[in-house]
Amino acid sequence: MAATPLATPMERAPDPELGTAPIPKSRYTSAAFAQREWERMWTRAWLLAGRESDAANPGDYFTFEIGPESVLVVRQADGSLAARYNVCMHRGNRLREPGRGHAESFSCLFHGWRYGIDGKLEAPLDPESFPQGCVGLDLRPVRCETWAGFVFVNLDARASPLRDYLGVIPDHLDPYHFDEWKVAFDATIEIECNWKTSVDAFNEAYHLAATHTWTLEFSDDVRTVYDCYDKHTRMIFPEVQASPRHPGAGTVTEGIKKMFLERVGVDTASFEGGPAEARAAFAEAVRKMGPVMGCDFSEMNEAQMCDDFHYTLFPNVTLNIHSLFTWVFTHRPHPDDPNKMYFDFISLMRAPAQDIPRPEKLHFRTADGDTLAGACEGGDLLDEDLYNLPRIQAGMRSAAFEHLHLGDQEVRIRHFHKTLEDYLGSDA
Ligand code: FES
Repeated sequence: MAATPLATPMERAPDPELGTAPIPKSRYTSAAFAQREWERMWTRAWLLAGRESDAANPGDYFTFEIGPESVLVVRQADGSLAARYNVCMHRGNRLREPGRGHAESFSCLFHGWRYGIDGKLEAPLDPESFPQGCVGLDLRPVRCETWAGFVFVNLDARASPLRDYLGVIPDHLDPYHFDEWKVAFDATIEIECNWKTSVDAFNEAYHLAATHTWTLEFSDDVRTVYDCYDKHTRMIFPEVQASPRHPGAGTVTEGIKKMFLERVGVDTASFEGGPAEARAAFAEAVRKMGPVMGCDFSEMNEAQMCDDFHYTLFPNVTLNIHSLFTWVFTHRPHPDDPNKMYFDFISLMRAPAQDIPRPEKLHFRTADGDTLAGACEGGDLLDEDLYNLPRIQAGMRSAAFEHLHLGDQEVRIRHFHKTLEDYLGSDA
């Protein structure tokens, strides 16, 4: 029997009642607040740790660094995934450097204690020299569950299941079949800002007009819609459509032709339609690429073919979802300094039939003036955000600035803070 086609819900969520109170800047600058986040939120929430495909075979592993912790995610002999703290139980040495790899077992480089890929302590050196014995010294487990090819971990052993935490997200995003998407770019950027400064920057289209002015020719910041769910949020950001702020609004601009239609093979010299026909032509051309890419777009509506379906999974995952590619950002806190963070950026391609070699992770630092232009498709756009972030953080630290003053287009930021408050407690 054929599977029932999936469909992403398109109806608007009810507008949340979140008030208009200012958001104190101390949430972005205070070490005490960051510590509270660690104790009450980071150690309780489900966190995106990586892709299942990065640990495909038994013994394959990758690490996940979050705050002061490092977690090993390891493919087990029975094909399941398991996570363990990346900490030797003898005297606390890290077992593996950050990254991906394969291990038949995990031997500690300090005194050579050896653990199986299941985390069991197999061979302490000179066990007879420990009169107290070496029982109960297996690697400490971490909760690990998967959805759509994404691996999540939770440092709280009593956390409710990942599916409960994700709420509406699987219903919304299962039609994309993310388990079949491949990693095409992988980078971590060290940025001099709080992790929330970075989450916020991608949670609204309000900054497009000033920060990414050149994109208004083919993307519509004004007709962007914002939906808030339980913990998570969505923004549908129209593309292949000019902003009403742009002089070409209501026409098929040169930007729409160059950035969209020509890239998918539409003959713009002979194209005579208006904006609606341009969107239909773009969607149709991408659908025709399906067999070559090895994917079926029949569960995608026209908006999904053209627009950026932008989801934020609390606390720190940003998904910029397009028909052929998705940018996945994770915004991780620095372990000690609330004014620094790590921005992980993987680009996923929906191309199961294409041979896309898994790229090595690249590393950048905004403090060194690093830029993404030339490193990846869209790097010039992200550079504009990366330029802003340290400057926002520096400005927030000024005595002149006391709180964030948010408008309706920034409702996802306000909703994010409400969810954070739910974790931190009313005295947050
Ligand atoms: Fe690992 Fe000693 S700290 S064997």
